[in-house]
Amino acid sequence: DLKGFAFDLDGVIADTARFHGQAWHQLADKVGTEWTPELADSLKGVSRMDSLELILKAGGHENDYSQDEKVALATEKNDNYIKLVETLTPADILPGMKDFLDELKANGYHIVLASASKNAPKVLKYLQITDYFEGIVDPAKLTHGKPDPEIYSEAAKLMNLPANQVAGLEDAQAGIESINRASETSIGFGASLKDADVKFDQTSEVSLAAIKKQMG
Ligand code: BG6
Ligand code: MG
Repeated sequence: DLKGFAFDLDGVIADTARFHGQAWHQLADKVGTEWTPELADSLKGVSRMDSLELILKAGGHENDYSQDEKVALATEKNDNYIKLVETLTPADILPGMKDFLDELKANGYHIVLASASKNAPKVLKYLQITDYFEGIVDPAKLTHGKPDPEIYSEAAKLMNLPANQVAGLEDAQAGIESINRASETSIGFGASLKDADVKFDQTSEVSLAAIKKQMG
């Protein structure tokens, strides 16, 4: 039986995947990489520096910048992202997610955050939902980002639970793969996701009953 839930943030709790996309699009224009839906999708769930590498590579620019210049590019993207994040309010929590957090809390489930974003504490603060989370996996301490299972394994550790009692919630293929490789139950949002144990088209559809129904 499930006893704990590990949440991705961007694209699951808030529509900040859109903000990351906007800021990366600006960066892609600057370095001369064509911005396509496929490139945008491939960045979801992926760490800041790994995302930059993917953008440079997509345009054949991976050898055009020194490490210092890459750090400067990533910082510029992050500054633009933070400007967008600062506009967030509790009204930007995705449909159904606040109710789901309340349902989990009322029923005594463990709740942690498993986001690759170093801005996650800030986003939670603007959404005013920090207190729901008993822990946040620190992405700065990870050796490997999603799709590696490390982040979701760390989430289970934070809750003191074995993998088979933990579910992860994700909007990105890299995240679903990370959960699956951690031997946890994967819950995916988005019709195009593959290999999710439980799948919803919209965040508004999630509830304990709806999850149990799909798990059989
Ligand atoms: C993930 C997002 O949650 O965090 C990615 O899906 C983002 O788009 C990654 O690149 C890292 O975020 P940040 O805020 O540390 O640059
Ligand atoms: Mg996400």
